[in-house]
Amino acid sequence: MSVNSSEKLTVIALAAGKGTRMKSPLPKVLHPVAGRPMIEKVIQASKGAGAAEVRVIVGHGQNLVRQVVEPMGVACYVQEEQLGTAHAVRCAKPETIEGDVVIMNGDHPLIEASDIKDFVRHFRDEKCDLAVVTAVIKTPGEFGRIVRHRGELAAIVEAKDASVETLKIKEINTGIYVVKGSVLAEYLPKISNNNSKKEFYITDLISLCISDKLRVQAIQSTPKVAVGVNNQVELAKATRLLFKRKAMRLMEEGVLMIDPRTVYVEESVEIGAGTVLYPNVFIRGRSKVGSFTVIESNSFISDSEIGDSVQVRGGSYLEQTKLHNKVSVGPYARLRPETEIFEEAHVGNFVEMKKVKFGKKSKAGHLTYLGDAEIGEEVNVGCGTITCNYAADRKKYKTKIGNRVFVGSDTQFVAPIEVGDDAIIGSGSTITKNVPAKALAVARGKQFVKENYAVKATEQEVAETESK
Ligand code: UD1
Ligand code: MG
Repeated sequence: MSVNSSEKLTVIALAAGKGTRMKSPLPKVLHPVAGRPMIEKVIQASKGAGAAEVRVIVGHGQNLVRQVVEPMGVACYVQEEQLGTAHAVRCAKPETIEGDVVIMNGDHPLIEASDIKDFVRHFRDEKCDLAVVTAVIKTPGEFGRIVRHRGELAAIVEAKDASVETLKIKEINTGIYVVKGSVLAEYLPKISNNNSKKEFYITDLISLCISDKLRVQAIQSTPKVAVGVNNQVELAKATRLLFKRKAMRLMEEGVLMIDPRTVYVEESVEIGAGTVLYPNVFIRGRSKVGSFTVIESNSFISDSEIGDSVQVRGGSYLEQTKLHNKVSVGPYARLRPETEIFEEAHVGNFVEMKKVKFGKKSKAGHLTYLGDAEIGEEVNVGCGTITCNYAADRKKYKTKIGNRVFVGSDTQFVAPIEVGDDAIIGSGSTITKNVPAKALAVARGKQFVKENYAVKATEQEVAETESK
């Protein structure tokens, strides 16, 4: 049991650096990891761990960073010049913080609330003044090295300042620290920039506190916590790990995957048990998928709601679409925003819909465009049907089709237009006037037939050739 677990917790997240090694115009912490800016992950984890306050240090691209973090209810503190990680922490005004502080880099998107809780619990149980979270990894590369004397933590040495011997150390600094607010406020001003980069390093806090005989500990964690993002390769690696984590969780909850390595489901997505995901499926944003649904390969689903026992066949592209139970769409269906397909309806291959309500048990099997339309129940939309919704006045108009209407193939509805229940539209019609219920409407050029025309034409050609 922790002694002073009621102590207030504040998280300081460092996000002012330029991220030079990303070689990208976007501030580093805004790069998306599995669909969300990495700083968002850090803030979510902090809040989940019970932080009463999160202070984000911003600098490079601060206007953009603020747009993402401020709506999450955190306070931004500006670091005008990037003079190092200790200087960044000073910008958070630690002298105004009561209780314990967790300091984290904004570029560690794999951190979870449970990790932070564990570190703080350890720190409090051990009555520490300062703790640094470490990990043992195979290729320590540019990480700061944890130097120990007779097993006891002694200092952190940055890779750039390390000797060949020190570089061989595999225990590294994850960049996560837990410290008493009062200790932080007292020791930060004592840090100098006497190093190869002429920067104020937060890591120097360790040796300073140790020489003053404060209680300083290393909390050894897992390599996962050490996954930071400094370049595009590390960004892709972190993204892969987050997708993998989500896939594992979904499988634990009963979602079936043929090859989880190629399933890309963002953290925010919910999927019911018994649903099957084929390889190369991408589901993002605020999407929800029910149970016993099948989503086939190369489908892309964004901010959509999909019910139970739905079939999304290969190559379908869904945005802000709602599919009710037992619907089947695709292969190769394109469903654009504000489309809603009701129970047991079928949308087949090469069908595009935008702002459409498509009624129960209705069918649009092939090669069709429906836009700004309301289609009733049990309607049959023949192949090649088009709603001409965009008029010469550059406005969009609606097509309304009643229940049980039969639309012959290759029909155009020139909107605004209404078709009553049980009507029949003859194939190849260009419908420009409303069609009443139960009526038959045919609007196409009359067929012209001239008997033996082809034979005569051929005889004439032969005669002409012979006379030459
Ligand atoms: C830092 C640690 C290193 C550790 C590693 C873990 C220091 C000196 N080194 O190195 O020991 O192994 O993290 O990933 O702390 N930032 C600012 N203002 C600045 C400088 C940096 O806000 O003036 C922010 C950056 O935006 C970033 C974080 O601090 O989010 C870390 O900076 P970065 O340059 O990535 O440090 P590392 O070289 O990774
Ligand atoms: Mg870093």
